[in-house]
Amino acid sequence: PPLEKYVDPLPRPMTAIPDSSLYPGADYYEITMRQGSWRFHRDLGPAKTWGYWATNPHHPRKPIGMGYLGPTISVNKDHPTVVKYRNHLPTTHLFQFVIDAIRNGDPQLTPIAPPPYTSHPPFPPNVNVWNVVHQHGGFTAPQSDGMPLQSFSPDGIHAESYSTLDPSRVKRNEAICGYTNHERSSMLWYHDHGMGMTSVNVYAGLAGLYLIRDPADERLGLPRGEFEVPLVLQDRTFHQDGSLAYTMTQREGEDTPVVNGKAYPFLAVEPRRYRLRILNASNERFWRLRFDVPRDVLLQPQLPFWLIGTDGGLRTPLPMLNFLIAPAERYDLIVDFSGLPMGTNVTVTNYNAPVHFPGGGGPEISEIMQFQVTKRLSGDADQTTPPKSLKLPTVAPIEPKPHTRRRQWILYQHKLFGTMTFNAVPFMEPSQDFIKAGSTEIWEYINPNHDAHPMHVHLVNFQVLNRQPMDAASYQADYEKWLDGGRKPEDRPVLANYLTGPPIPPDPDEARSNKDTVKSYPETVTRIIIQEFTPPTATIASIPGSGAEFPATYVHHCHILEHEDDDLMRPWTIVRD
Ligand code: C2O
Ligand code: CU
Repeated sequence: PPLEKYVDPLPRPMTAIPDSSLYPGADYYEITMRQGSWRFHRDLGPAKTWGYWATNPHHPRKPIGMGYLGPTISVNKDHPTVVKYRNHLPTTHLFQFVIDAIRNGDPQLTPIAPPPYTSHPPFPPNVNVWNVVHQHGGFTAPQSDGMPLQSFSPDGIHAESYSTLDPSRVKRNEAICGYTNHERSSMLWYHDHGMGMTSVNVYAGLAGLYLIRDPADERLGLPRGEFEVPLVLQDRTFHQDGSLAYTMTQREGEDTPVVNGKAYPFLAVEPRRYRLRILNASNERFWRLRFDVPRDVLLQPQLPFWLIGTDGGLRTPLPMLNFLIAPAERYDLIVDFSGLPMGTNVTVTNYNAPVHFPGGGGPEISEIMQFQVTKRLSGDADQTTPPKSLKLPTVAPIEPKPHTRRRQWILYQHKLFGTMTFNAVPFMEPSQDFIKAGSTEIWEYINPNHDAHPMHVHLVNFQVLNRQPMDAASYQADYEKWLDGGRKPEDRPVLANYLTGPPIPPDPDEARSNKDTVKSYPETVTRIIIQEFTPPTATIASIPGSGAEFPATYVHHCHILEHEDDDLMRPWTIVRD
């Protein structure tokens, strides 16, 4: 029978407590990855899950976590943090059959070394589990960034790594990372980035929120405390007994929406404004979300809301009725329940976004969660600033100059194997892209496929410049020919010859927004402009891993986790001029 909707209250992620005694001038956390168990729904049995636990400096025996996902790390802007990550996961994978299939060369299950490429997992054959924690959206030095080659196993085996890796980390099942927190106030997140295994590791539960707060935001009049609600949106499939089924291979049950770890949860709300901070932490699902109200309540079937921020922080408020959120994107919203009669149920629905957006394929999810206006107004009336009067920072557009360097990334799908790479170069090939420190570049994501893919660049924020439609079939055919002909630079297909229309400006929610993940639409080139490729250079005294050395290598990749594992990821390098 289908799961009953809106019977479990929405869990609120707990907040990790720092220890400020260990590293002067920084907050210190210890985060441990562990196997645990978690019930996704009242009527489902407990599932084995993986999660992050924070050491509790006040109660060593009461670590902070819930067995699935992780506690929120909440920091003040510019106040650095040091995190020690420990890997106490079992040495057999929660989805070991996937790992076995990779080892046996099953071409349908190839998170590592997809044919025809021959990159090998950088671990001995008896190691089945490895992990690394990446702070998504962070302005982080490479040695603390948590990239695939920084993975380490529960028994302390570390992957071969970029040369900057601190040798003291070797042979311990832990890693120390330093974060500057020089980002704008924003909602980042941390998640597993294990080499070739990110999809199964995150699916098991390895993700959490990382909030950067700016004390200066306090005078803005935004809803806070109980009225600021983070929503971590995922989809999961369950076996009859309530355990997790990995969706790429086992489709026993219905594809089910899970928010903060609960299937179809509800949140009882007061008739006032709420700030909803939404992260799409799904492996591959796009959602087009709206807030449906019963017919007789408003003049229209949806509750309008305001967008006040995106991946990289606040922006000018924008009234909206729905939005499309791709994996890894964040949308920061103000939703006003104050005009609704007591007892109104506001249902968050997903309309017309199938799992593979937009072409279809995969199961649809239409209802996600419910806000139930059942609580009386507590305390004073709503004192928050009405969204249209909010004085939020405006994001000035970055203007390209005629000489701004362009870099092209073709989302190339192998014609026989279906695996994906950028420019037909596998991830394990050394970096070929050297970017001068401090320079501004335009990156063109050329997507000749039929699906949209979210592109994520580590380290930087960027703006969406424009998109342009293209003759994808001809481009793909000529690109194949060029590859078969030995990739002579002078014969490379020239994008301009395949464009079929004028550039289209960014969507209103993308324009004047700081982004770290962008939707690359099918049969389209998507252009982003990245200002100032500069890593954090000043090492904060006594904060390990806080400053970069040159050359500084990072990655960019598709944030459909199965695609990033399947090689749609490349390193790039910042060099000093
Ligand atoms: Cu959220 Cu490299 O990823
Ligand atoms: Cu993709």
